[in-house]
Amino acid sequence: MILKSTIDRIMEATDIVEVIGEFVQLKKRGANYVGLSPFANERTPSFTVSPAKGIFKDFSSGKGGSAVTFLMELEKFTYPEALKWLAKKYSIEVEETVETAENKEEENRRESLMIVSSYAAKFFHESLLDTDEGKAIGLSYFKERGFSSDTIKKFELGYSPDQWEAFTGQALKEGYLEEFLTESGLSVKRDNGSLYDRYRGRVMFPIHSFTGRVIAFGGRTLKSDKNVPKYVNSPESEIYHKSSVLYGLHFAKKSIREEDNCYLVEGYADVISVHQAGIENVVASSGTSLTVDQIRLIGRLTKNITILYDGDAAGIKASLRGLDMILEEGLNVKVVLFPDGHDPDSYVRLVGTNGFKKHIEDNKKDFILYKTTLLLKEVGNDPIKKSEVIRDIVESIAKIPDSIKASVFIKECSSILQIDERALLSELNKMRQAKAKKNSQQPNGRMVTPVEEYPLDEPIQEERKETSSQEKEIVRLLLLYGNKMIDWDGIANTYIGPFMIAELNDVEFEHPASKAFIEIYSKEVENGVLPEEQHFIHYPDKDIVDLVVTLIATKYTLSENWYEMHKILTSDEQANMKATILGAIFHLKMHKVGKMLDNLRKELQNAVTDEDQDILLTQYMRMKKVEKTISDYLGSVIIK
Ligand code: CTP
Ligand code: MN
Repeated sequence: MILKSTIDRIMEATDIVEVIGEFVQLKKRGANYVGLSPFANERTPSFTVSPAKGIFKDFSSGKGGSAVTFLMELEKFTYPEALKWLAKKYSIEVEETVETAENKEEENRRESLMIVSSYAAKFFHESLLDTDEGKAIGLSYFKERGFSSDTIKKFELGYSPDQWEAFTGQALKEGYLEEFLTESGLSVKRDNGSLYDRYRGRVMFPIHSFTGRVIAFGGRTLKSDKNVPKYVNSPESEIYHKSSVLYGLHFAKKSIREEDNCYLVEGYADVISVHQAGIENVVASSGTSLTVDQIRLIGRLTKNITILYDGDAAGIKASLRGLDMILEEGLNVKVVLFPDGHDPDSYVRLVGTNGFKKHIEDNKKDFILYKTTLLLKEVGNDPIKKSEVIRDIVESIAKIPDSIKASVFIKECSSILQIDERALLSELNKMRQAKAKKNSQQPNGRMVTPVEEYPLDEPIQEERKETSSQEKEIVRLLLLYGNKMIDWDGIANTYIGPFMIAELNDVEFEHPASKAFIEIYSKEVENGVLPEEQHFIHYPDKDIVDLVVTLIATKYTLSENWYEMHKILTSDEQANMKATILGAIFHLKMHKVGKMLDNLRKELQNAVTDEDQDILLTQYMRMKKVEKTISDYLGSVIIK
């Protein structure tokens, strides 16, 4: 058992934002941080971390708790595993009571498997560096491949001696149990019950979990005998589920988040070489085709995947279908090809870091456009082939959950394919509807909205109602009700003034006097004062006095329109204070969002590069979602 004093030290050192930040992209929002739930597949962030309270709350899945609970939920750690992870992170020495340390049987199975794996990694690493056989065979091989000592150390590369029981014998001698040696696949059982080493004479690539613990191995033969499998990999076990592990992710996650992009390569050697060249946001699917789980692992860190292919055209064509899955998860996919005969590993060694980066920049293509051009090359004059290609492309586009992005692809593909955009669009909508129907028959099916219009086709509202009237309405409410207590269900013990100021902290006021008023009001609230009419009436700034006096004197009710719209009478304003206050706040927000959408549409019209369009469209979609959330809120919560 871990000593109480150790637990206390771990708890003291733990910064929940830092811990969760290793797994979830967090953005500061007021006193809290928000991000996309790692437990649910969501597109609008509902996952909240409060550093002050040391807790997280995930509104999608309902999960919540401390940094320890988070690790237990996400990494399926046991309580001691989570504590040890934190201890390692914060360099705290873990003190345990004696019995369990000596009694490996008592540790739970998963922990035992991890311990034996980590022991094996150490054994292989040492035999690579410290034994004559390891140095002569394994180390010289890695050196020949250009791996530096630092790289070899960082990736814990190793060598398994070419003997039947070198590892197994040693492990048994040190008290590791047969059960875990075989379950982890490190040792294999003979018919007579004795054990032998699985990876004899191979160089070893340990595979790490997201959190950096060794959970499996890939062992590469150094023989060129065709009958010997090139790689022998760990079998599935309680700690190793191939389909949800990416090689190198532990070393890449920080850089993936920073670069907001993940390079995907095929092999261990590719990951290591590219990483060694200073490009650290790289992972491998390790030979198997990409799975949904793997895509989601990446999706937690970035929405951008760039696939680095070696130059084998047949292989690329075969994998195109698999990439639709990435689109379906809402990620952006780019592809980069390398010259014939080269893979990322050989190419980066040939041209160096800068040459490699430049090659990527010069050659990266959007997946859908790339696929379109590739398939089109094979069509020739065959109309049947052409219609097959069109179906194929539209099928890919139909997988994109973001309908605006989809409509942009339709536009571009229609010009590449020389097909009327509307024909593609109708094909697309047919597919989406079929899919929506299928989904609606399954629980949890994702809703697909048909693509109706490209945002540019939506008219820009020429005359939005004047912003100042809505801002003045906020000022009026602050003046009239700011010092009243809130007693709505759910919220209590708060004055309306500070509540409104907090709710509006993401709104930029435009009308100069209202803006000044809000600034003064906020400052006073910060100082613990609730400013009253008198404070403003005697204020040195004439514009503010004007505004305030006008509002008080004429019982300025610019909100009339809005109340009418929502069937609330102005005279009811005090009777339904909640609707009045929240209505004004969200009405203003709605208005601001509308203006931002207008602006984005204008910018889109002027956007020249794909890159710009991409960014603007993403922003546009995000804003649309905000607009919808607000209007839903206005519709459901306030207006009863
Ligand atoms: N792989 C495997 N079993 C094989 C061949 C390949 O598991 N028999 C997986 C490995 O994860 C490997 C990846 O597929 O890393 C890509 O294969 P390959 O390009 O042959 O491996 P590299 O790691 O590039 O090895 P090398 O460059 O040393 O040939
Ligand atoms: Mn290779």
